Amino acid sequence: MDAERVIPAHVAIILDGNGRWAKKRHLPRSLGHREGCKVVEQTVYDAARLGIKYLTVYGFSTENWKRSEEEVGALMQLFRYYMKRLLGIAKENNVKVKVIGDRSRFDKDIIEGLDALENETENNTRLIFTIAVNYGGRDEIRRAMVKMAEEVQEGTLKPEDITEASVQAHLDTKDLPDPDLLIRTGGELRISNYLLWQIAYAELYVTDVLWPDFSMEELNRAIDAYNKRDRRFGGVKEEQEA
Ligand code: IPE
Ligand code: IPE
Ligand code: MG
Repeated sequence: MDAERVIPAHVAIILDGNGRWAKKRHLPRSLGHREGCKVVEQTVYDAARLGIKYLTVYGFSTENWKRSEEEVGALMQLFRYYMKRLLGIAKENNVKVKVIGDRSRFDKDIIEGLDALENETENNTRLIFTIAVNYGGRDEIRRAMVKMAEEVQEGTLKPEDITEASVQAHLDTKDLPDPDLLIRTGGELRISNYLLWQIAYAELYVTDVLWPDFSMEELNRAIDAYNKRDRRFGGVKEEQEA
């Protein structure tokens, strides 16, 4: 199978199940998140090894601020630590890091760390690793609409020039192709406000595996499942047409 196996260019992941992983072990949720961060790091290596060009993970949603102060605080501390580690890893492995979402709500040092991740890796080419933080698909579309409305007001954009392509060009993901494969761990059958515009034709793969238990083996399973899909994009396959 491996010889003909197609590697999806863009894999997006909703990494879910850190809390349940910790609960099963009678550990605080923060330890689930810590384990989850290690797995994100491992997945960056695995994706690069497999030849995936774009990997986009959901790190923190616009709705996750609803969690306890303790949990949000623990997540912020993990961001601080892993941002620094990731910078080293990205530089060593030719990985370009991109951040999507509205980072303005974070503390100044986190914003600076995220900016540095992008700036210091911008010329890397092996893998484009995108992290969604304070990200919501609806908020991203809303922010794009604000920008477009301003351009219309300034006279630099005409309403008749608002095409799907120009909307896409105002999204945080403007430089990324749409995801081919969307993986969700933790078994929930929902999108949770992730990449709403971009996943119009993504193939969905949900596994009950909790994120801290995710591995190269599970990533390979998702890619094998992707290879069995028949992507029609609203059309009809040639052999069915005859
Ligand atoms: C996903 O794990 C990580 C984040 C949302 C930050 P959860 O924390 O949602 O884990 P569960 O779903 O409660 O198990
Ligand atoms: C989605 O997981 C958000 C992230 C993975 C960052 P959630 O755990 O927040 O989603 P719901 O609450 O199950 O929809
Ligand atoms: Mg969850």
